[in-house]
Amino acid sequence: MQAGTAAEAPSVESAKLAQCIGVPTEVFPLEKRVATVPEVVAKLVKLGFSVAVQSGAGDAANFSDESYRDAGATIVPDAQALWSGADIVFKVRGPNAQEVGLLREGGALISFIWPAQNPELMQQLAAKKATVLAIDALPRTLSRAQKMDALTSMAGVSGYRAVIEAANAFGRFFNGQITAAGKVPPAKVFIAGAGVAGLAAIGTAASLGAIVRANDTRAEVADQVVSLGGEFVKVDYVEEGSGGGGYAKVMSEGFQQAQREMYAKQAKEADIIITTALIPGKPAPKLITADMVKSMKPGSVIVDMAAEQGGNCELTEPGQAVVKHGVTIVGYTDLASRLAKQSSTLYATNLFRLTEELCKTKDGIIDVNMEDDAIRGLTVTKGGAITWPAPAPKQAAAPAAAPAKAAAPAAKKAHGHGDAGEPMAGSKLAIMFGVAAALFWLIGASAPPAFLSHFTVFVLACFVGYMVVWNVKPALHTPLMSVTNAISSIIAIGALVQISPMVGAAGRPNELITWVAGAGIVLTAINMFGGFAVTQRMLAMFRK
Ligand code: NAI
Repeated sequence: MQAGTAAEAPSVESAKLAQCIGVPTEVFPLEKRVATVPEVVAKLVKLGFSVAVQSGAGDAANFSDESYRDAGATIVPDAQALWSGADIVFKVRGPNAQEVGLLREGGALISFIWPAQNPELMQQLAAKKATVLAIDALPRTLSRAQKMDALTSMAGVSGYRAVIEAANAFGRFFNGQITAAGKVPPAKVFIAGAGVAGLAAIGTAASLGAIVRANDTRAEVADQVVSLGGEFVKVDYVEEGSGGGGYAKVMSEGFQQAQREMYAKQAKEADIIITTALIPGKPAPKLITADMVKSMKPGSVIVDMAAEQGGNCELTEPGQAVVKHGVTIVGYTDLASRLAKQSSTLYATNLFRLTEELCKTKDGIIDVNMEDDAIRGLTVTKGGAITWPAPAPKQAAAPAAAPAKAAAPAAKKAHGHGDAGEPMAGSKLAIMFGVAAALFWLIGASAPPAFLSHFTVFVLACFVGYMVVWNVKPALHTPLMSVTNAISSIIAIGALVQISPMVGAAGRPNELITWVAGAGIVLTAINMFGGFAVTQRMLAMFRK
């Protein structure tokens, strides 16, 4: 399909040269997002694709047909023409039955699908012999998959929007003020669940000046809560809350009882509660009871971000904002769509990053490589077969998610020791130690004493370095390496000592040593300053 005007019908012939990406208007009620934006259209065209957008697809997100056309897209008049002309369809919400009917036999589709919740849709897509990549099935724990992680980008937008909704329903300032007209206390916000959405809500509420407290069953998020300006409130009960892959698990009855007591106390004090608690594959945990709602001050607000999964609050009505016992309970299930321009832009960028992975040859033709962990995880149907769920990825930046019990042993196997690899078998370890001991004995017996002392330091340094790096999650290796690079450049001192001309065997200065020392200083300087530069760039990402 070539770039053209709304009046032109899509050209099917050119699709043979490069594939056409089609972007239809979202048909789900009140959905305002669109799967691509003009800025990304231009990038897709550069990758060799032609892009067709249904007329009006971007209207609700403030992207006009004109802006898509300017970026190089064809504007197609209706859904029928769009779906029949596209080789690959980009969508936000999963297709309904009518859209599946419009999908080309053997065509490709990238969108949210939620395969576990939609077995019927999966059957329909397989019957169409479609290649379907479910963006929600991305193995999020793979560090290189983060750029494609639409769940994270949508959760971030939703967390921000939840605070805006709360501020809208709340009758007061968030920040404390002392004015001639009187003193205003800061709003107290309590956030239940500090995952991606919860952390975005904490940051937003804190930046508006509220006093923010948060709780999560995963104790490891406490530092993240504090770094965003919140206070972590613990449950007075010791139990590991992590169920693998950074996700939560269902807690014991004892923990839940202790948590209810703490939440009851927070509900009495808080002006606003934002709940985000979810457990993959399970209904949302009920954290805010009707009695807690009753105990809140009149005019308080609850935003229940888990409304679609049954809600964290007993009184939530999904999709509605209701007032009960004087408390406004917001149960909107379209928070990301309520910030459509922002969420569409982020989503479009996630899909573009995925397209780059699918089209490494930059010739406008996708290759669904099932050997690639990220692509394999995403592919839920291919050539008439249902390929979901994918096996656990081989390499991950954090322990793999364990949505079902059956997946747990596989995940454990893949991320056993220090999250980085399979634990070594005892016999293999013994052989390795034996070989290393023999090697050291040989070196010790034959090497000169001066070499031996340096060699001991070298071996110890390797051991300490290995232990330090291996006990840190691979996702944190970049910041760790940048800092250690910057501070570990003791080698510079060695090189500085050696750089002054040394007298060689013939009584002349040994230039080779000077050159090697000079090269050592240059390389170490790259290490040091590069390390500081990378650290500075990473810190800058968190500065306002
Ligand atoms: P989510 O939407 O499934 O859950 C939201 C939060 O609710 C989680 O923090 C969870 O611990 C919490 N929660 C569940 N039950 C609770 C309860 N009874 N009481 C209080 N809190 C409860 O998770 P989300 O936000 O999609 O991701 C969670 C985590 O996954 C992230 O914080 C991150 O650590 C990890 N993750 C890792 C990625 C990576 O390594 N590349 C990518 C994305 C997420």
